Amino acid sequence: MKRSIRDLVNLKGKRVFLRTDFNLPMNKAGRISDNTRLVNELPTIRYLVDKGAKVIICSHLGRPNGFDFRLSLWPITLLLMKYFPGKVQFAHKTIGPDVQEQVASMSEGSILVLENVRFYKEETQNDPEFAKQLASLADIYVNDAFGTSHRKHASTYGVPRLLPNAVGFLIENELNIIENAIKTPKKPFVAIFGGGKVDDKIGALLNIMKVADVILIGGAMAYAFLVAEGHSVGHSLVDVDSVKVAEEVLAQAKTLNKRIVLPVDHVAYMFGDKKEKTFVTDELSGEMVGSDIGPKTINLFEREISKANQIIWNGPLGKYEDPKFQKGTFKIAKKIGKSAAYSIVGGGDSISAVKQAHCVKMINHISTGGGATLKLLEGAPLVGIDVIQEKVV
Ligand code: ADP
Ligand code: 3PG
Ligand code: MG
Repeated sequence: MKRSIRDLVNLKGKRVFLRTDFNLPMNKAGRISDNTRLVNELPTIRYLVDKGAKVIICSHLGRPNGFDFRLSLWPITLLLMKYFPGKVQFAHKTIGPDVQEQVASMSEGSILVLENVRFYKEETQNDPEFAKQLASLADIYVNDAFGTSHRKHASTYGVPRLLPNAVGFLIENELNIIENAIKTPKKPFVAIFGGGKVDDKIGALLNIMKVADVILIGGAMAYAFLVAEGHSVGHSLVDVDSVKVAEEVLAQAKTLNKRIVLPVDHVAYMFGDKKEKTFVTDELSGEMVGSDIGPKTINLFEREISKANQIIWNGPLGKYEDPKFQKGTFKIAKKIGKSAAYSIVGGGDSISAVKQAHCVKMINHISTGGGATLKLLEGAPLVGIDVIQEKVV
């Protein structure tokens, strides 16, 4: 088990470098469209503030190429100020003498938010000199950037190697919930996969298959499986590599004697004729583009969900961004929400779909990670967490 901030004694007056994932989604107008990652980080910040630490917050936002004012952390700092009035300052740079000066003038229990760490290319290069400069700002390193902990960057990997370190409450919580769900799942355990590329999810799918009782597959992902089973899927989204992967998964399911449930009908449209219609799987052909699961599949999936005691869901079951193709995803989100089973949802688009379906409060755990959550579900190590010291017992 990793050392937690609870294990850090004597935080009073200490400079704590807190790596957070404030990579909040933005809408087209550049406004923050969802503040979940910030709200979930508040308990860690509050704890450090209450202990009298000087809290230096470091995060990235987006994937900038050099300085880009649209990706400044200033608007996010403004949001944080609402939660900690009078305690928050902003640094226009991430390293350098000005930042050093600001840190030197911090009082106990105050917060300094550094500018977007990815404005420096040295961050993603995990440059040792850059890591040294970041580390020189603080006495202790705390990683609470769960969503970024699969990245081997200076602020997630280089800095913790140079300072005494621990994980924050957000990471602790994500690890507890997701690792428990895989190690000691409540049975029956139903896993639901959807979304885009099979490749990104294959590791998680194979690992979960070892412990899940049933796997429901929808979204574009399902078409690779249907092709692997010998069906024609018309012009539905399938890439050749995904079919090979799907074949592997089907073979593995057979070996493990696990049930994979694929869609039996679809909401599809024809090229040239945008009007959508429902088709059963065997009718899919020619110019048809499968874009959502059909009503029979919704029923089939709902029946499986009603038997579950644990559900993990990653990936929308159709092109949910288009109102014509969101019914499958939204109905399944509601069914999961209403079910008494312990439910976990991960993945940027899946979370966005759950929000649009107004089911957030009905889900037991909404993971703040995208790629990091998939890695954890895969059972793969997360470099930014691995590097943290073990708890001394
Ligand atoms: P998450 O972010 O939750 O991990 P993904 O990024 O893997 O999910 O997948 C989400 C994307 O998959 C969405 O943009 C959605 O439109 C797309 N998608 C789902 N079903 C289909 C489909 N049948 N055809 C094309 N795209 C689909
Ligand atoms: C995320 O949003 O998944 C994390 O903040 C990581 O961002 P990245 O994929 O740009 O490294
Ligand atoms: Mg996505």
